[in-house]
Amino acid sequence: MNHKSSSIDTGRRDFVKKSSVIAAGVLAAPLLSRANFFSGANDTIKIALIGCGGRGTGAAVQALSTKQNVQLVAMADAFRDRLDGSYKNILEALEDKKGRVQVKEENKFVGFDGYRKAIAMADVVILATPPGFRPIHFEEAVNQGKQIFMEKPVATDPAGIARVLAAAETAKKKKLNVVVGLQRRYQTSYRELIKRVHDGAIGDIISAQAWWNNDGVWVHPRQAGWTEMEYQMRNWYYFVWLCGDHIVEQHIHNLDVINWALDAYPVSAQGMGGREVRKGKDYGQIFDHHFVEFHYGNGAILNSQCRHQKGTMSKVDELLIGTKGKVFCDQARITDTKGNTIYQFDKAKENQPYQNEHDELFEAIAKGEYKFWDAERGAKSSMTSILGRLATYSGQQMEWDAALQSGMNIMPTAYAFDATPPVAPDANGLYPVAVPGQTRPF
Ligand SMILES: NC(=O)c1ccc[n+]([C@@H]2O[C@H](COP(=O)([O-])OP(=O)(O)OC[C@H]3O[C@@H](n4cnc5c(N)ncnc54)[C@H](O)[C@@H]3O)[C@@H](O)[C@H]2O)c1
Repeated sequence: MNHKSSSIDTGRRDFVKKSSVIAAGVLAAPLLSRANFFSGANDTIKIALIGCGGRGTGAAVQALSTKQNVQLVAMADAFRDRLDGSYKNILEALEDKKGRVQVKEENKFVGFDGYRKAIAMADVVILATPPGFRPIHFEEAVNQGKQIFMEKPVATDPAGIARVLAAAETAKKKKLNVVVGLQRRYQTSYRELIKRVHDGAIGDIISAQAWWNNDGVWVHPRQAGWTEMEYQMRNWYYFVWLCGDHIVEQHIHNLDVINWALDAYPVSAQGMGGREVRKGKDYGQIFDHHFVEFHYGNGAILNSQCRHQKGTMSKVDELLIGTKGKVFCDQARITDTKGNTIYQFDKAKENQPYQNEHDELFEAIAKGEYKFWDAERGAKSSMTSILGRLATYSGQQMEWDAALQSGMNIMPTAYAFDATPPVAPDANGLYPVAVPGQTRPF
């Protein structure tokens, strides 16, 4: 959700001439097929937006604000009102570059199946629906041979992760650039910190802490006339099959930083959680707090906490503790073990990571370069957060391999507004919520 920075940034306005983009592309990548990267006779890079909500709208604006000659040609959303709102917001945000929006009425696709047609029209696709659908959309985009920007998380269950990992392999073979919206990986301060960690600035990492504690997010109460499926789709944050719970949807950012620093993924996790204040019909199934202890193969332990409770202390941050020092990520500072600062990133030099994701992706595409293969690490950091949820829901210790191999699939068997979602409310309108000690992990 709104992760520290605004999700719409249109600050960049310096576009280069078509000819130089073509020249750079052809010269820089003699081994790659030009057809892989461009639409045809000219240098236009066509994009399609799948999932036209807040983030998808922001990502489209950012893609359209890169230096390259990018054109939005298709949009797909489950709902017409969301698509129309996004279309309007993109046009407004683009100001003098409105010509980059070339979405004909027949290329606006509404419903569950529109993604296939929208993907077919583009060179690059932006996947920004709720994460439950990502494996389906990512697999289709890879099968169609498209370059991809996809938001995190990339799945909500182990079966979805396995599907993304398999498609990621195919994407590599096809040399399709894939950027995943874990934007700290595209943020200058984080890059500077983690580079120093990898160069040994704090010795061996022995433990870490990660926090995503704040008030929580929006709620969309049920409206008359909605089917159960429409309600769950509209209020998606609160349904595990769509969202993964907030430990997956938001806390993944912090968990990914620790995985990045350690260059590893946890082998096991155990923890606790529940819902203390998030009660009632509008709040579906998800917890309002989780605390998880993740164990890594090198012996490092990550203590992770995430909370959605109004009026409580707010903290979104990561801390790395090594044999020679510590990294305070939010402060962008590295200290020795005595607390003396040994590196301080100058925050005046910070970039806009949401924009940078697209700047770097579209530059690579225009040059015909294959530079981004984020899908595997995006899947494994999504799996890290799913592992945490399995641990807090069940109250059991969870092993990475067993969880991934479980094949656990929490998605619906059919996608239609009159189809049956995977969970149903009881007679009081309340949904099943995990009970540690009773809920089975898979
Ligand atoms: N990287 C970040 O900092 C960041 C910030 C916000 C959101 N996100 C991620 O972006 C994704 C979208 O979040 P959002 O805040 O934009 O949510 P949103 O509800 O504003 O938008 C989601 C859109 O997807 C549409 N949709 C749902 N199912 C669909 C389907 N099957 N086919 C087509 N469209 C469908 C919805 O109707 C809605 O318009 C999530 O994965 C979220 O975690 C990332």
